Amino acid sequence: QQGPAFDVNAMTLTRWVLAQQRTAPSATGDLTQLLNSIQTAVKAIQSAVRKAGIAKLHGISGNTNVQGEEVKKLDVLSNDLFINMLKSSFTTCLLVSEENTTAIQVETERRGKYIVCFDPLDGSSNIDCLVSVGSIFAIYKKSSEGEPIEADALRPGNQLVAAGYALYGSATMMVLGIGRGKGVNGFMYDPSIGEFILTDPNMRIPEKGKIYSINEGYAAEWSEGLKNYIEEKKRPKTGKAYGARYVGSMVADVHRTIKYGGIFIYPATTSAPKGKLRLLYECNPMAFLVTEAGGLASNGSIPILDIEPTSIHQRSPCYLGSKQDVQELLSFLQ
Ligand code: AHM
Ligand code: MG
Repeated sequence: QQGPAFDVNAMTLTRWVLAQQRTAPSATGDLTQLLNSIQTAVKAIQSAVRKAGIAKLHGISGNTNVQGEEVKKLDVLSNDLFINMLKSSFTTCLLVSEENTTAIQVETERRGKYIVCFDPLDGSSNIDCLVSVGSIFAIYKKSSEGEPIEADALRPGNQLVAAGYALYGSATMMVLGIGRGKGVNGFMYDPSIGEFILTDPNMRIPEKGKIYSINEGYAAEWSEGLKNYIEEKKRPKTGKAYGARYVGSMVADVHRTIKYGGIFIYPATTSAPKGKLRLLYECNPMAFLVTEAGGLASNGSIPILDIEPTSIHQRSPCYLGSKQDVQELLSFLQ
């Protein structure tokens, strides 16, 4: 008897990206190579996050390995992986990482035309207790002549060439959007063959959801409009109350919002008028994906993708999710 069918023609992420490249007559293959390098970084990070090989590293003791060296922290390791893989892809000239105060210039001999802004391992407060974490990235094409400088990365999200994230959850998934109007696709990691497989083609966020996602601990610092909106979700004048879900890991909270619908909020507060999340490598790539999936993303007054950045680590309030939910929230904030 035969076992279950084995897919001998699987649509892997690499294959899918290559197919996209073939549809663009002027494409050089650089973006394909760049995305492959991110894929390699993500595979290594997911393996480290899942503690593969921990027995060898830790022996049976604490935080030092067999040589007595301290084991590299996961966020440091993830950052090193992103930087090394991106540089050695020969497709990038400037890198902006959450972990580095200044932008990183790629050495002349390894330069290419792309600029990548990334958060190599977001949700660091969740790492030690094994809650889901993720990586986020945003890709621009350099638009000026000359040496790559920090100002080259200060571009609004509506100029993004591509953006995506990897979620290290109960499974590993990469969600990717290339080009505007081309949609969002999800690829699940299959550890048995070491490949990402297209499992969620053309992801669409529901028009309206039943979940709100916000850190309610800071409620005393919210605007009146936001307080009223959340109150309406809990004790609606008509219909059922919304459920509350907040992982505290942006990638997990946004992924759930895309899959199930609803709203994710990291608001402006009295002590942090610009919120906490970073525009270049947290808000923008997520806003790009949510918008591409049919949702909305706003900073409370304009679309996040229209913000003109002035510094690489600047923050922005972030209100994103199902179209109707975000529109309703905006009407409360006004
Ligand atoms: P980090 O980059 O230091 O990990 O912070 C970003 C994270 C997001 O993943 C998450 O949405 C947010 O911080 C949660 O913050 P808070 O604990 O204030 O609710
Ligand atoms: Mg972060």
